[in-house]
Amino acid sequence: MKRKPFLAGNWKMNLDRKSGVELVRALRDGVAGVGDRDVAVFPPFVYLDEIVRAAAGSNVRVGAQNLCDEKNGAFTGEVSAEMLRDVGVTHVLVGHSERRQLYGEGDELCNRKVVRGLAGGLHVILCVGETLEERDSNRTEHVIGRQLTKGLAGIDAGSLERITIAYEPVWAIGTGRNATTAQAGEAHRYLRGVLSGLYDERAADSIRIQYGGSVKPDNVAALMAVPDVDGALVGGASLKADSFLAIVRYK
Ligand code: 13P
Repeated sequence: MKRKPFLAGNWKMNLDRKSGVELVRALRDGVAGVGDRDVAVFPPFVYLDEIVRAAAGSNVRVGAQNLCDEKNGAFTGEVSAEMLRDVGVTHVLVGHSERRQLYGEGDELCNRKVVRGLAGGLHVILCVGETLEERDSNRTEHVIGRQLTKGLAGIDAGSLERITIAYEPVWAIGTGRNATTAQAGEAHRYLRGVLSGLYDERAADSIRIQYGGSVKPDNVAALMAVPDVDGALVGGASLKADSFLAIVRYK
């Protein structure tokens, strides 16, 4: 099956109001004629409202980097799926390795966030990925298989059209050392096999699996040529219009 490429920029805790709006204005012009791939940006919470308005009417979708696992209520400091939808956000990241590693988010919490994101009408990108230590001790498949299986617990096949998986090996994030095409291919093929076991082959075949970790204009085409790689989740290289547009327009 041919899956539509999905290129996304995770800004993490970077940029400010002015540079974020400028970046999105440049992107909306730059992707105006690009209909054969999906494009999204993930700004910090406080800029979402304004970025959604800056991207309105364009091919650029706007997502949040996190959400609360509860509905509205007494959860100081948290942001609900309903609030994200209210300001026009359509996508959300769950289980990014920085959330897992720096803020202690485990598989059960990630699963509750996936459930809440879907219930709130959002498209969820569930991130999985192994550390260098886990890779070196041959535990990559065990770790990413567990993150995927637990992250999707209780999610029925009918919801899968609003799920994307991002394979982001922790050792490749922000290091300039991307996974080789062989490493990415192996991990993505494995993840698709796990999805096939959890659901069925047809469902597994339709889910997009993005690769993330030091994706740059000069390596995106090779990574996108790998059969099971359906997109990219880009950090550093998504913070400038020229580099992110070069990634979006890879040939
Ligand atoms: P870099 O592209 O900066 O390595 O970040 C990848 C990432 O974590 C995207 O979510």
